[in-house]
Amino acid sequence: MIHDPNEDGLSPKPGQTGGAPTPAETASPDQPQHPRRIRSFVTRAGRVSTGQRRAMEELGPRFVIPYAPVAADWDALFGRTAPRVLEIGFGMGATTAEIAAQRSGDDFIGVEVHEPGVGALLKLMGEQNLANIRIVQHDAVEVLEQMIAPASLDGAHIFFPDPWHKARHHKRRLIQPKFVALLVSRLKPGAYLHCATDWQNYAEQMLDVLSAEPTLANTCENYAPRPDYRPVTKFERRGLRLGHGVWDLVFKRRAE
Ligand SMILES: C[S@@+](CC[C@H](N)C(=O)[O-])C[C@H]1O[C@@H](n2cnc3c(N)ncnc32)[C@H](O)[C@@H]1O
Repeated sequence: MIHDPNEDGLSPKPGQTGGAPTPAETASPDQPQHPRRIRSFVTRAGRVSTGQRRAMEELGPRFVIPYAPVAADWDALFGRTAPRVLEIGFGMGATTAEIAAQRSGDDFIGVEVHEPGVGALLKLMGEQNLANIRIVQHDAVEVLEQMIAPASLDGAHIFFPDPWHKARHHKRRLIQPKFVALLVSRLKPGAYLHCATDWQNYAEQMLDVLSAEPTLANTCENYAPRPDYRPVTKFERRGLRLGHGVWDLVFKRRAE
């Protein structure tokens, strides 16, 4: 992965092929899981900094939407009607905040299970005075199933999802046919799905799975050039300098 493991505690160093496993792999992936399904994450204890905690206390009530198994009224929660983009697994939220600042006319629903990440994004929102993000701290699969109405999103971002390197853990990868069918059902016709990964084997899986979903059309022949709105992170830049790849995929939901 391309992110500094010391910064977010989430990812190994760029291009660590066969190197240290990700925390996702070391955090007892074989432990008993939710009886209904295999999850794409394991719950990790993580230290919430004082600044993150303060942001959670001060801004959480306004910007964090408690999970509930009912369709949310997002227009009411954002206080306006605007194009709405879902981001799954925003990590520490730096990319989310940067995109939301650039695209102030759009609204962003960020879903993340890792508490320090929620605190970190709220802190960035406070520092940058961003009001076009709402956060749900919960499993994105259930958020999609319950809180997002069919054909209601204008876009979806999944940037550097946990690669689950080992073959026996590939079943935990988020980008699987069933999950993609659920996600696409929440996109409006013509809405986009943008995924990115720095793990070639996962990029290939993404291309296979997204191409096989009949309601999606690839906007490019295979991989897409990085869209301008997705910032290159410091760690991605370092990885690219070291010769590691990053693959973007941009698909659109077909018009009915
Ligand atoms: C490798 S990190 C990447 C974070 C961020 N997108 C980035 O580019 O830095 C993947 C993130 O996805 C989150 N995640 C994985 N499965 C999830 C799920 N089902 N629901 C919500 N968040 C999830 C993890 O907690 C983790 O923070």
